[in-house]
Amino acid sequence: MLAQTRYTRTAIALHWLIAVLMIINIALILLVDRYPDDWVRPAVDTHKSIGITVLGLVIMRILWRATHKPPAMPGSYGAFERFAAHLAHGALYVLMILLPLSGWMHDSAWKDAATHPMQLFGLFEWPRIGWIMAIEPTVKETWHTVLGGVHEWAGYVLYVLVGLHVLAALKHQFLDGERELQRMWP
Ligand code: HEM
Ligand code: HEM
Repeated sequence: MLAQTRYTRTAIALHWLIAVLMIINIALILLVDRYPDDWVRPAVDTHKSIGITVLGLVIMRILWRATHKPPAMPGSYGAFERFAAHLAHGALYVLMILLPLSGWMHDSAWKDAATHPMQLFGLFEWPRIGWIMAIEPTVKETWHTVLGGVHEWAGYVLYVLVGLHVLAALKHQFLDGERELQRMWP
């Protein structure tokens, strides 16, 4: 049997779907100050809905990953590179969970959460996290700020890691002459 050289179709679909949704979600929220006033609320609501969708997709992706081996790395990659790739991929998985989860927690600690239910793409109500909503108001305000900070900083770490991830993929492809992108190309 031929050695497996590509990720499975499902892993590839999830990788790109999640990557695109995360990039759209970041662009959507970072441009928020430039929108007309009446776009701001719908943009933030869409940001939350895309984020929750990503959370669901990432859970499926992790379950898939746990049950399906990735293709072996090309033999030319040294020990350090293998270690760095595993570390970076692990950190990307942590961030793919941490970003939506901290966003959802931050939103659940919002003082007006109870009177402004969250709608998933305007279709149905998406629950807030009950125990966070139940925290005493002044303490909850502190949590709102802290969780907002976690959400924002997780974003900064993500920019750096995705930047390194893309550079590493391009280096393997074009400097090392490996069929690197083909491993994950749809
Ligand atoms: C936008 C440009 C991107 C490119 C060109 C790209 C490319 C790739 C490639 C070629 C691989 C295969 C690595 C291997 O040789 O095993 C890979 C794996 C991976 N990528 Fe990306 N990627 C991109 C964006 C992202 C984003 C935005 C995320 C997450 C936030 C991400 C997370 C991952 C993870 C976690 C793996 C490891 C998969 C596993 O082994 O389970 N990638 N990527
Ligand atoms: C893919 C997952 C997500 C990513 C990558 C992401 C990323 C970001 C980024 C980069 C910001 C701007 C932070 C800043 O510089 O101040 C932000 C803001 C925010 N996010 Fe997320 N987020 C995600 C999911 C969520 C979810 C699931 C929720 C809530 C359910 C959420 C709620 C918020 C809120 C309320 C803000 C502040 C918006 C404002 O009022 O200006 N995020 N997010």
